[in-house]
Amino acid sequence: MKKKFLDLINKKNKSKIVSLTSYSKNIATILDNFCDIVLVGDSLGSVLYNYKSTREVSLNTMIEHSKSVRMGIKKSVMVVDMPHNTYRNPKEALKNAKKIMSKTKCDAVKLEGGKKVYEIIKTLIKNKIPVMGHLGLLPQSDTTFKFKGKKKSERDRIFKDAKLLEKAGVFSIVLECVEASLAKLITQNIKVPTIGIGASKYCDGQILVFDDLIGLNPMNYRFVKKYLNIRKEISKAISNYSEDVRKKKFPNKRNSY
Ligand code: KIV
Repeated sequence: MKKKFLDLINKKNKSKIVSLTSYSKNIATILDNFCDIVLVGDSLGSVLYNYKSTREVSLNTMIEHSKSVRMGIKKSVMVVDMPHNTYRNPKEALKNAKKIMSKTKCDAVKLEGGKKVYEIIKTLIKNKIPVMGHLGLLPQSDTTFKFKGKKKSERDRIFKDAKLLEKAGVFSIVLECVEASLAKLITQNIKVPTIGIGASKYCDGQILVFDDLIGLNPMNYRFVKKYLNIRKEISKAISNYSEDVRKKKFPNKRNSY
C-alpha cells in the first residue's frame, strides 16, 4: 500500500480525518489546504445536474469533473466515485476503474456496497487500484433514503459488510446515515478508518458535500452544518453588480482599456 494511504490509516485513534467533495478545480485548490481526502462524488448528479438520482451519472461526466479537480489537488488523497452500472462484475469494474485512474490520475476509487461488491473490490485491489468502501445509505440503490441501523437484521448486515470490506483490503469506509451506536461499533471493530456523513462523532473522520457546507444548496439536512450562507453573500455581490451596471458605475475608467 502506498504511503499516503498508510498515513491515512495511521490517523485512526490519533487524529480525525477531514474530507469534502469537490467537482471542479477552483474549489479543489481551496479544499486541498484543509482536507485529507477530496472526493469527486457522484452526488454531482443531483447537486449540479438536477438528476433525480445518482444512477443517471455517467462515467464520462465523472471523468471530466475529476480531471478538473485533479488540477487543484497537490497533497490530499483524491478519490473518485465509480458511477452506477460501471461495476456490475469484476471484469467491467476493472476496465472502468482503470479508465478512471488513467484519465483522471486520481489516487483511488469508491464503490457502494458490501458483500455484493466483495469480489469486485478484491479484483481492483489485486490490480493495484486502491478502493474506498461505502456502507449504510447507498444512494445508487436506495429507495427510502432513511437512516440505517434501526433493525437488528440491518445492523448485523452492515457490521458484517464492514468486516468484509476490511478483509477485501479497502483503505477506508464511508458510513452514510448510520445510527450512532452502530457507527461506533463498526469504527471500534475495524482497523481502517470510517468516514461518516450523518453517522455520528464516533467515526474516524467526517465528509460533507461542499455545496451543503457553504449553504449553496438551499435544502436543510439534519446531518449538515452550514458554515456559511453563501447564497446571501452571492446575492449581495450580484445585487451590487447589477446596480452598478444600471447606474453606469461599472465599468469605470480603471476597468477599461
Ligand atoms: O457522492 C458523494 O458525494 C458521496 C458522499 C456523500 C460521501 O458519496
